[in-house]
Formats: sequence, structure tokens, C-alpha cells
Amino acid sequence: MDRFAFLRLAPRTAAVRLRQACGGVLQLRTSHERHRFQDASVRIATCAADGDRCRGMSAKKTPAGILVRRIAFSYPDDLEAHWHPSKPEWSQMVNGASLLMPYLEPYLIEAIRDALPRITDEKLAAEARGYMGQEAHHYKQHRRFNELLLAPARGYQSLREYEKLLEEDYAQLRRERSLDFHLAYAAGFETMALAIGHMLIRGREYFFRDADPAVSSLVLWHFVEELEHKHAAFDVYQHVVGSYWTRIHGLVYAMHHTLSRTRQAYVMLLKKDGLWGSWRTRWKLKLVLAKVFADTMPWILESLLPWHQPSRFADP
Ligand SMILES: [Fe+2]
Ligand SMILES: [Fe+2]
Repeated sequence: MDRFAFLRLAPRTAAVRLRQACGGVLQLRTSHERHRFQDASVRIATCAADGDRCRGMSAKKTPAGILVRRIAFSYPDDLEAHWHPSKPEWSQMVNGASLLMPYLEPYLIEAIRDALPRITDEKLAAEARGYMGQEAHHYKQHRRFNELLLAPARGYQSLREYEKLLEEDYAQLRRERSLDFHLAYAAGFETMALAIGHMLIRGREYFFRDADPAVSSLVLWHFVEELEHKHAAFDVYQHVVGSYWTRIHGLVYAMHHTLSRTRQAYVMLLKKDGLWGSWRTRWKLKLVLAKVFADTMPWILESLLPWHQPSRFADP
């Protein structure tokens, strides 16, 4: 049992846990369905085994419970782009979002890093550093996955042009916008990430059952950590900027930017698959998007309130 670490998401809640066995399986449990989940034996992740990675996992948590886990996911050589065999549309939606991460998350990290000199509260500075550590591991793991996805044999090379577009997007934001905007974008994106994290964890059977556990693992690990740092970027924004309207502008901009770019990517991927023209594909996409909209919109609407505080939401 000493090879296992139980990683609580936040102090006092203990609601969602990642259970890690070095060289083995990463499991996710919630307080609501632990028994059912164990019975279902849903394996959500595998991790590579070596001592360094395991030591990395036991690094110190921040006071608010952010833990930087250095997990290296392994993927099968024959990894399928349609890693959910019965949901190719959903697979490509997630793949499209994954392509965004190595461009989006460094931008978020830079925003928080640039704000550090303006943070006068040592505890908040520790949360900011924990946030940057988690996001850095997220985009590195997504970049590894993306390289496999865009390997020449799969025929998705046209997505390399899309990656250049993302690079230009964020270069332009860095050039033309202020730190206040960058922080508002970061807080806005984290609002979406919190909503999506709740949706994915509560609906994980719908989204991931019978999917390749290597990819489900990557996505669920990422979003469990999104819940773990759910108020870090918001708190930094409030401390450094604090303006309500700038926050709303950042939220709207980040939502529109990330969602429209993700759509552009999954349309390209589905076109390459020869699925985009089919009414069946369009119908299935509409169903998934309707679920995503219904599950996340209440969170987004709540975040528009001037007294919005992501720290007060319990984990699933
Ligand atoms: Fe992330
Ligand atoms: Fe995040």
C-alpha cells in the first residue's frame, strides 16, 4: 500500500480523488459513486513507472490544495485518432481541444508569471506558482499526444498549418494586449475549465466508457487538476486587476477564441476522416454539443454575477 498515494483535490472536501499506483493504474473516484465506480472497474489511466515520477507526485501541496503531479502518460503504438470507437465525433472534438493546449496554456502561465511581482499576498503567490506548475505539465502531456495524433501516417498534416495559426493568435495577444487583459483571459478560460471539468467527471461514463484508457486518462487527469486550481487564476485576477467588466470581457473573449479555434480543428479532422459530410456525423455532433451546452451554461451564467467566487463550489 505504500506505493499508493491518495491525492485529495481540496482541503476538507475529499470529494474527488486520483489514486495513483506507480507503474500501474490511475483511478478517479468521487464520494458519490465510489462503490459503483470500483465495481465498474473503470480504468482511466496508466502511468509510466519510475522512481522520479513517483517522487514528483508526492511534492508539497499549496495551502489551497494544488499539487503538481509529474505524470508521464504512455500511449499504445497503434493509438487510434478515434480513441472512443463508438464516438468518433467526440474523439475529434477532444483531439481538436488537445491541439490548442500547447499554445493556450503557455499563454496562461506567462500571464500569471508576469503578475507575480504585483502579488503582495504570499499565500496567493504560492497558489499562482502551483497553478503554473500544473498547467506546464498539462501542455507538455498534450503536446506528446498531439505529436502522435499528427504523425505523418495518420494524414492530418494540414493541422500543422492550424498550429501555426494558434501560434500567431497568441503572439498577437502578447504583442497587442495588456497584462490586465491576459489575466482576464486566464480567469475566463478557467471559468470554462471548471464547468467542463464538472461535466466530464460527472458524465465520465457517457464520455469515456469503452474509450481507450490512455486518452481518457490524459483528459480526466487534466480536468481533475483544473478543478484543483479552480480559483487560482480568478484570485490572481481579483488581486491584481479586480475590474468586473474587464473580467467579463476576458471571459467572453476566451470562450469565443478557444471554442471557435477548437471547432475549426475538429472540422478539419473530421473532413480528413471523410465524416464531415455525413448527416449522421452532424447529428451526433449536435447531440454532444447540446449536452455540453446544457451542462456548462449554468456555470457560465453564474460566473457573470459580480459576486462570483469559484472557490465556493464543491468538487463533484
Ligand atoms: Fe490545464
Ligand atoms: Fe487551468
